[in-house]
Amino acid sequence: MSKVKHKISFVLNYEKTEHYVKPNTTLLNMLREDFDLTGAKEGCGAGECGACTTLFNNKAVNACLVLAIEVDKAEIITIEGLSKGRELDELQESFIDNAALQCGYCTPGMIMSAKALLNRNSKPTENEIKEAISGNLCRCTGYKKIVEAISSVATRNDKKESMNAQKGGDTE
Ligand code: FES
Ligand code: FES
Repeated sequence: MSKVKHKISFVLNYEKTEHYVKPNTTLLNMLREDFDLTGAKEGCGAGECGACTTLFNNKAVNACLVLAIEVDKAEIITIEGLSKGRELDELQESFIDNAALQCGYCTPGMIMSAKALLNRNSKPTENEIKEAISGNLCRCTGYKKIVEAISSVATRNDKKESMNAQKGGDTE
């Protein structure tokens, strides 16, 4: 395998980044080893468990299956990019409030899959939520609390949108 490193330019957690990677380095290894972003975990390393889920141009991907050179010119968001300083993302808050933080290994990936879903559909149904996290395996407790945590954000979004629509109607 070639030892030559290739330059890539991409946006990582909202910051423009340039980096040199070997052609066989995975996105997961680059994030964990080169950037110390260890929220994405290596479970299976084969696209089966979802522990490494990361947003690649706003879509959830298994970072263990993506080569680092593929992210050239792309935008990558990891679990570390969701919070703003000490202010957690609403999904992270909801996982805490709903006791859905079952283990540190799977939770980051679950949250990233949920984030990708809410980015494209702010009010998903329970079935849509279950489908979105179907690639994120939990072997401990089950999915009830996790689905509730994501549903609660969806319900809040629904209420916000109804209130905004009502306000818009009131001013017409
Ligand atoms: S480590 Fe990537 S899917 Fe399991
Ligand atoms: S949440 Fe990690 S095994 Fe259940």
